[in-house]
Amino acid sequence: MRVTVIGADGQLGMDVVQAFTKNGDEVSPLTHSDIELSGMDPASNCIESLRPDIIVNTAAMHHVENCEREPQKAFAINGLGARNLALVARNIGATLMHVSTDYVFDGVKGSPYVESDAPMPLNVYGNTKLSGEYFVRSTADKHFVLRTSAIYGKNPCRAKGGLNFIELMLKLARERGEVKVVDSEFVTPTSTSEIARQMVALSRSNFYGLYHATAEGSCSWFEFAREIFSVANVQVNLKVAGPNEFPAKVARPAYSVLENLALKSHGLNVFKPWQEGLREYLSAASK
Ligand SMILES: NC(=O)c1ccc[n+]([C@@H]2O[C@H](COP(=O)([O-])OP(=O)(O)OC[C@H]3O[C@@H](n4cnc5c(N)ncnc54)[C@H](OP(=O)(O)O)[C@@H]3O)[C@@H](O)[C@H]2O)c1
Repeated sequence: MRVTVIGADGQLGMDVVQAFTKNGDEVSPLTHSDIELSGMDPASNCIESLRPDIIVNTAAMHHVENCEREPQKAFAINGLGARNLALVARNIGATLMHVSTDYVFDGVKGSPYVESDAPMPLNVYGNTKLSGEYFVRSTADKHFVLRTSAIYGKNPCRAKGGLNFIELMLKLARERGEVKVVDSEFVTPTSTSEIARQMVALSRSNFYGLYHATAEGSCSWFEFAREIFSVANVQVNLKVAGPNEFPAKVARPAYSVLENLALKSHGLNVFKPWQEGLREYLSAASK
């Protein structure tokens, strides 16, 4: 397959390039300097000349506070940018694989969300990502929309200044005797290498549609930190942060756990429990 990856130097994008390349596909990595999603002329751009069978879009404006400060820019990239790509994909007959987020939900359900649950985003980021989903689903005939959650990988997250949650916890533990983490927000930590593997598996099918794509299980950020220190064998005084110690600047869902129901129903789910993904990450990082 000819695969064009957008956001190719991002945390997820780099693993996506690697996974499709390892699979034997012909991969064209595009970075922000090659393509500006919000300003693309849908009819003519560099993607067409690459003649991809599939376009994988990992690029987004996803820093939640920045999205809240600049809603027009966030919509231009996450909403209209996704539409621009969907128009290109439709024009050239390519499949569009697009990454979305658990933040399309408000978190009040209290049990894992499935694809048929009604979204209700709480913030600008979630709203703009949801609009991107709808543009992709209504415009590109052949599309996969993958919602994922709390991602981490060996490559730095460009929007969040480099350190993922695991590295941040380990750094804080090295620098301080005590680390405090919130216990009130539940997610599923998901490794970018697993998401990339899932994308390769899904790209071979023609079961187009909307997919939840996270590791199995869930935890609070506090529980995630506890597991990180346990697996890495780091001694630190880990405490639950008080309700007002790290006040959220932007509303976020308290429970955004996703169930990979659609992937499982097609027999395509590759994800393992989140603890296994963490162990793989820490073991690779220590080599
Ligand atoms: N982080 C999470 O926990 C999380 C959770 C759920 C879903 N997601 C989704 O996962 C995806 C990947 O996240 P990530 O952590 O890999 O992000 P990342 O490391 O920040 O990479 C994002 C990439 O998008 C590019 N980009 C940003 N704005 C662009 C624009 N206007 N036009 C073209 N390219 C642009 C960036 O380039 P520059 O840096 O040069 O601008 C970068 O290459 C995003 O779609 C995000 O919404 C993330």
